[in-house]
Amino acid sequence: MAHVPSDPVLFDDWHVVARSEQLEADKPLGVSLLGDDVVLWRGKDGVAAFRDVCIHRGARLSLGKVRDCTLVCPYHGWHYDQQGQCTHIPAQPNMVPPKKAKASTYQVKEKYGWIWLSLGNPARDVPVFSEWEDDSFRKVHVGPYSFPASGPRIIENFLDVAHFPFVHEGFLGDPTYPEIDEYEAEIAPDDASGEYGVIARDISVFQPDPDGTGEGRRIAYTYKVLRPLTATFVKSSAGARFAMYFTVTPRTERTSSVWAYIAMDYSTLTDDEIRSFQDMITLQDVPVVSSQRPELIALDLAEELHLRSDRISIAYRKWLRRLGLRYGVLA
Ligand code: FES
Ligand code: CO
Repeated sequence: MAHVPSDPVLFDDWHVVARSEQLEADKPLGVSLLGDDVVLWRGKDGVAAFRDVCIHRGARLSLGKVRDCTLVCPYHGWHYDQQGQCTHIPAQPNMVPPKKAKASTYQVKEKYGWIWLSLGNPARDVPVFSEWEDDSFRKVHVGPYSFPASGPRIIENFLDVAHFPFVHEGFLGDPTYPEIDEYEAEIAPDDASGEYGVIARDISVFQPDPDGTGEGRRIAYTYKVLRPLTATFVKSSAGARFAMYFTVTPRTERTSSVWAYIAMDYSTLTDDEIRSFQDMITLQDVPVVSSQRPELIALDLAEELHLRSDRISIAYRKWLRRLGLRYGVLA
C-alpha cells in the first residue's frame, strides 16, 4: 500500500530523530516521525532507515540486531542489506530471496552530531547551523526534551520573548520591565532558495543579568525561522555572542521532541551548567505550552488575538500558510 503523506511539506523535510552517538554499531534503534515508526541501523555505507516492520510477518525490525552489515529480523531471522533487500531467509537457506522481498527505505543523513531523517524526497539540505563551522563558538548540546505539544506551538514559544518575564521570571525576564519595543518581522520573498522563511532583527528585551555581572539591561535578539520546525536566535551583549539552534521533531501531531545546541563565543559557564540552566528553562516552558488550547495553531489570523508585539508569530503563521502546512495546525 502506497504511503499517503499527511503533510507534503513536513513529509519532504528533514527532521532530527537521534543523536549520532545514540546509534551503536551493532544495535538498531526505533524512532518515530509524523506518526510512522522507523528503524535506524549502521551498515557499511553509513546509517540506513527502514519502515520498522518486517515484510514477512510484520515484526518490529528495531527489536532485531545488526550482523555482518545486515539488519536481522528478531522473528525468523531474515537478513536485510543497506538498500532494504532481503538477502537471506534462514528457513530456506538455498532459496534466493525474491526481489520484492524488500523493506521500505527512507533518506537519512548525519549532520551536526544528529541523525536526520526524511520520509519523502527533500528538495534541500538540512537547515544551516551557521555557528557550527565557526570555531570561535563553542557548541553545547541540550535536550532532547519531550513536549506533549504540537511542533508549531513549540516553535512559536521559542520565538516569543514576551513570555520571558512571566514564565522565566528572574532568569530571562523581569515582570517590572515587560515591554517589548517596536520591531519588524519579515517573511522571505520566495521559499525555493532562501536560508530562512522569517526573520526579526533586534527584538529588545530586558534581562535581569545578561552578562553575569548582576546588572539588568536590555539586549537584542535576532530570530530566524529556517524551516517550519527549525529556528535560531542570536543575541549579543557587550560583544559576547550567544546563539541557539532549535529544531522540533513531530513524533505525532501533538507530541514532539526538541533538539538544540547553544553556541557561545565566551565561556563563563561549564557545559554542564549550561545544560542544567537550559533544562530548568525548558521545564518552565513545558507545562504552559502543553496547556495551550487549541493544541494546534490556527493559520487563519482571525483566530486568537494578535498584538504588535506578536509580529514574529504572525509572520510565522503567515509563512506556514503560504507553505501549505497541514500537520500540527488547524485545518
Ligand atoms: Fe521478520 Fe519473519 S517477521 S523474519
Ligand atoms: Co520559554
